[in-house]
Amino acid sequence: MTEEQKVIIDPWGNALVHDYARLIKEFGMQSFDNNIFPEPNLQMRRGVNFGMQDGEQIANAIKSKKPFYCLTGIMPSSEKIHLGTETVIQNVRYFQEHGAKTYVLIADVESQATRGVSLEEGKKRALEFHIPAYIALGLDINKTNFYLQSENKKVSNLAAICSQKITENEFRAIYGSVHPAKVMAAFTQMGDILFPQLSERMPGVIPVGIDQAPHIRMVRDVSRRLKTEYGFFLPSAVYNKYTPALNGSFKMSKSDSELIKLEIPEKDLKIVEKKINKALTGGRATREEQHAKGGEIEKCMVYEYCKDHFIKDDKVLAKMYEECVTGKNLCGECKAKYAFTYAKQFYEEFNKNFEKAKKNIGKIKFVE
Ligand code: TRP
Ligand code: SF4
Repeated sequence: MTEEQKVIIDPWGNALVHDYARLIKEFGMQSFDNNIFPEPNLQMRRGVNFGMQDGEQIANAIKSKKPFYCLTGIMPSSEKIHLGTETVIQNVRYFQEHGAKTYVLIADVESQATRGVSLEEGKKRALEFHIPAYIALGLDINKTNFYLQSENKKVSNLAAICSQKITENEFRAIYGSVHPAKVMAAFTQMGDILFPQLSERMPGVIPVGIDQAPHIRMVRDVSRRLKTEYGFFLPSAVYNKYTPALNGSFKMSKSDSELIKLEIPEKDLKIVEKKINKALTGGRATREEQHAKGGEIEKCMVYEYCKDHFIKDDKVLAKMYEECVTGKNLCGECKAKYAFTYAKQFYEEFNKNFEKAKKNIGKIKFVE
């Protein structure tokens, strides 16, 4: 394979991914198989999860009720989170509800190193928004262990141990560079991923966006190399596809203004309608054509957002689909009937849960 053909994913940059099948092959992942997991959740069933690494080990732990953990981390690179992060948290919630010991970390060291967000600011964002938002999205406040990377000494110790096991060339081959900030962040992340195994060796699943695949590859290599000394289980992962921007671009950027953020105060909910109104749809050139041929739903970002985030009820989603492809609805009618209605419900519910979570902030559990 030539260099141009190789898919390079830069976890800190903007990457374009069109060909998930190729990605799965090149990263040695498996296609996501929701048949192996009991009661798959909405995102798992609707194709948000498209890839996995060693999912069997987790499915087996669930089925045989053996201990396992689920861990993910999110950078406090902006004050709010966007809907891509919501799908990661929904994965964490699924594994939590199926018995995982749950860890969610605030990647403040990473955002200091790679984005220049001070640790102080990172912590402030975490407490004011990120952590209550994760609770509002359905994580169990009594069962989720939170920490900030900068406050977890065991994580930095593990990072140091991992750093012995990788050569400069290997690092460069996986990440495309050996930029000091990336080195700092990558080893810290390996420390995160292995951290729960310090107290108990057990399988673990790391739900992440596909941009994080290089970290998973690296930490699995390192765990293998640390096997005799430490006996870590190789971490598993489930991958989410990119959340496309509403204009249809698959450019991944956490600060993209085309993405819809969480939360949006009640009084500003019109913004969501405005954004949806500007979104790329699969509408045809004329109303006659659309009535005759139906919409091109596979291109439609309005449908994509309803499917992945806003419409929880399968029957409602099926109706939206049906009414699009048979040409019953024009896009304007469809947006009013489905997208606006269910987006509004989604945000109202989030806002309500967020207020509640903020009140309960004292009950949140932090790793010692
Ligand atoms: N690198 C992740 C991001 O860009 C954050 C992160 C840090 C993480 N440590 C992690 C994700 C451990 C999964 C597991 O948001
Ligand atoms: Fe999208 Fe709805 Fe238009 Fe179909 S009718 S293309 S689902 S906006």
